[in-house]
Amino acid sequence: LIEQDLTGQHWVITAGPTMESIDPVRYISNHSSGKMGYALASAAIARGARVTLVSGPVQLTPPTGANIIAVKSADEMLAACEQSMSTQADVFIGAAAVADFKMKAASDQKMKKQSDTDEMTLTLVKNPDIIATLVLQKRAKTIIGFAAETQNVTEYAKSKLERKGLDIIIANDVSRSDIGFNQDENQVTVITKDKTWSPDKAAKSDLANQLVEFIQQYIKSAI
Ligand code: C5P
Repeated sequence: LIEQDLTGQHWVITAGPTMESIDPVRYISNHSSGKMGYALASAAIARGARVTLVSGPVQLTPPTGANIIAVKSADEMLAACEQSMSTQADVFIGAAAVADFKMKAASDQKMKKQSDTDEMTLTLVKNPDIIATLVLQKRAKTIIGFAAETQNVTEYAKSKLERKGLDIIIANDVSRSDIGFNQDENQVTVITKDKTWSPDKAAKSDLANQLVEFIQQYIKSAI
């Protein structure tokens, strides 16, 4: 029997990639499977939390009991997060791999192949930084981000923690093919202002339980 120690808490979790339209048939996206965010949602539900899962397009079965909000673009993801946290949430976890850029102006019609040129240029603009926006708006008491890096993982993650004003950042090395994107296992380093913890490589479901436990301990010790 799992202790229902998150009863009464509202957790909002983003998961998966975002999909940014180029035109009605094309888009910009990335390789995120959504597995880590979905595993975190399941782990928090199992301990009694009310969970809102704001999900980009993924091929996963939603965890039983989650309130799922399906979104495509980063703009939609931000709007869904703000709406679901119109009353401050207890925990926000940004596990989504948000596309950094979107089209400056997505085309209403399918873009035609230009027969006279071998090149084509798309003008992109920065997407909103969802988690940094939610931090500024104090949408949750505790805010946790992910950092997918390919080098200097801990160092980059630490600077991201500070720059975005996060409570906790969970860093993983996406250059390793055995973990991270689309894999069932992950190996992460958990970083707070004054703590660094690297649990062993584990199934995303096991790791999610350990991460939820860590977050709960962090909240308790911060009170
Ligand atoms: O992409 P980046 O490495 O900056 O992602 C770090 C954290 O910020 C992740 O938790 C990710 O979900 C979040 N993020 C976001 N909005 C963005 C980019 C990243 O919320 N536009």
